[in-house]
Amino acid sequence: MTNLIAANWKMFKGPAETLEFFDRFEAPDGVDVVICPPFVSLEAAVGEEWTIYAQNVHWAAEGAFTGETSVQMLVELGVQGAIVGHSERRQWFGETDETVHARCEAALEGGLGVIACVGETEAEREAGETEAVLHRQVVAIPRHDQLVIAYEPVWAIGTGKTATPEIAQEAHALIKSLHDTRVLYGGSVKPENAAELLAQPDVDGALVGGASLDPESFAAICRAAVA
Ligand code: 13P
Repeated sequence: MTNLIAANWKMFKGPAETLEFFDRFEAPDGVDVVICPPFVSLEAAVGEEWTIYAQNVHWAAEGAFTGETSVQMLVELGVQGAIVGHSERRQWFGETDETVHARCEAALEGGLGVIACVGETEAEREAGETEAVLHRQVVAIPRHDQLVIAYEPVWAIGTGKTATPEIAQEAHALIKSLHDTRVLYGGSVKPENAAELLAQPDVDGALVGGASLDPESFAAICRAAVA
């Protein structure tokens, strides 16, 4: 199966820096690449040759939802999908399994692809709750052929603490037993560790934060996904 490597730029890169990235970014054939810039940079990004996803999407078609963006607005721009339920949204912006479900449903119905995120916190892992947390989060995610899941253990995001390939494999196998879809790994993926993570049988790609901001390091991760 072709690996999917997605760049989550989080709150980095306005339109000018977005264009600078694309001037220098090259990916090999044989890997699916998705780039997720901040909302204000989507319009610049869709003019380029890559598949562009937003970092969130609302469930309503329109309405009094300050700061939110609808499926139709993204489709009008030429955006092809959205990340939903990232742990930073769950942790800082009140995202719940219910809102994740509603956002996924609306996006899929509107023809967008979805990268739906799940993952346990460090406290949950230490309390032996990883399986229960993943089960709860995964069953809230709708089944659809345009949806992939990203397993992002919260303790591995932006910390430099990557899950070992064995920990990732175990979580991915559990997720796949609940939801028949591609599962990406996210959490401190770098050019140096990408190949061994992607070599695991149930790791079908990566969702990359920090290391996706530099076009050369993101390209190196994309190359590791082909090798
Ligand atoms: P880092 O790669 O910076 O750890 O971020 C992972 C992530 O949250 C991608 O969505």
